[in-house]
Amino acid sequence: MSKTLLITGGAGFIGSHVIRLFVNKYPDYKIVNLDKLTYAGNLENLKDLENKENYIFEKGDIVDEDCVNELFAKYDFDGVIHLAAESHVDRSIKNPMEFIMTNVVGTVNLLNAAKNLWKENIDGNLFYHVSTDEVYGSLGDTGLFSENTSYDPQSPYASSKASSDHFVRAYGNTYGMPYVISNCSNNYGPNQFPEKLLPLFINNIRNRKSLPVYGDGKFTRDWLYVVDHAIAIDKIYHEGRNGETYNIGGFNEWRNIDLIKILCKQMDIALGNETGTSERLITYVKDRPGHDKRYAIDANKLKNELGWEPSLQFNEGLVKTITWYLANEKWLENIVSGDYQKYYEQQYS
Ligand code: NAD
Ligand code: DAU
Repeated sequence: MSKTLLITGGAGFIGSHVIRLFVNKYPDYKIVNLDKLTYAGNLENLKDLENKENYIFEKGDIVDEDCVNELFAKYDFDGVIHLAAESHVDRSIKNPMEFIMTNVVGTVNLLNAAKNLWKENIDGNLFYHVSTDEVYGSLGDTGLFSENTSYDPQSPYASSKASSDHFVRAYGNTYGMPYVISNCSNNYGPNQFPEKLLPLFINNIRNRKSLPVYGDGKFTRDWLYVVDHAIAIDKIYHEGRNGETYNIGGFNEWRNIDLIKILCKQMDIALGNETGTSERLITYVKDRPGHDKRYAIDANKLKNELGWEPSLQFNEGLVKTITWYLANEKWLENIVSGDYQKYYEQQYS
């Protein structure tokens, strides 16, 4: 094996797509997936990789310092791609401490382990921290987030991710840790946990349940198909410059309500419903506290420096996503179990 890579959070939504891409594209890399399997982690996402010789799953918690240190001693990693996180804004509003533990303390545990392992020779090693555009806060009606936009996180989730970004840069600055950071916009696609907008609404339409639109529905997000995020991560891991930050985005802004109406139309087509059936499920509900108005990414640094661009048009990505969820109803049913029902009732009652 030419390299041994640790990928954290590989059983989650984005992590599973990153693991798949790396395991298939680099048969000479050993890929170790460290995941605690929280409510969001699901080994079914990686079923097709179970028998691959260059893939190993390790169940463990990045908050547990001993677990992290043991893993670094066992595998002698050349690189880390760190995705493990608590990732849902609404949950962070209800329980910020879990976000501080995993997103901040967990990240620092990984940085310490990498620093200790690589202290003799940092050549060829890299700590890649996967972050979010939410660290930049909220935009007004115009403008885009660039890599130089000041941090202004607004939710406990965004604050914990911002803090972890700062720690990664501090380890680069203080200890010479080789690192890259990327800050990406909203992802969508197969395997996303149905607490996030698109899979939640797809699942509700399937079950003829109401579609809870927060506030006036005019909040804006920039959407990127998850496989394109994984491709960007591969490019940045291999070609990004040490100590740099790269924004990743879809060049694809939508107001929530417009996106939801397109989703409803496509769901009516996919389910053979009369036009307008799904739209009638739209219900405006109480807004998310501190709801960020608009995110939009300037991804031109990544485009100009590394030649990355989203490969899918939004309509194509949305249809692929709907098709996947409808073809994988069992995956959804397995997830939408007891704990999910409890969360749903607390969040939307
Ligand atoms: P997710 O919630 O689907 O998956 C997170 C994974 O991390 C799960 O498999 C979970 O089991 C694992 N995990 C959580 N706590 C852990 C711990 N203490 N130890 C080990 N594993 C743990 O998240 P996602 O949407 O795939 O996001 C992945 C990363 O990408 C996160 O860092 C997130 O901040 C970032 N990100 C997400 C988006 C998005 O739109 N989803 C956009 C930009 C950046
Ligand atoms: O921008 C990147 C971020 O995108 C990631 O860092 C986060 O991990 C990811 O969860 C996502 O955060 P958002 O808060 O933007 O995603 P969410 O799917 O929760 O919400 C998208 C928009 O839809 C947001 O404006 C809130 C709104 N919404 C969401 C839900 C769950 C609703 O109107 N109703 C809902 O029920």
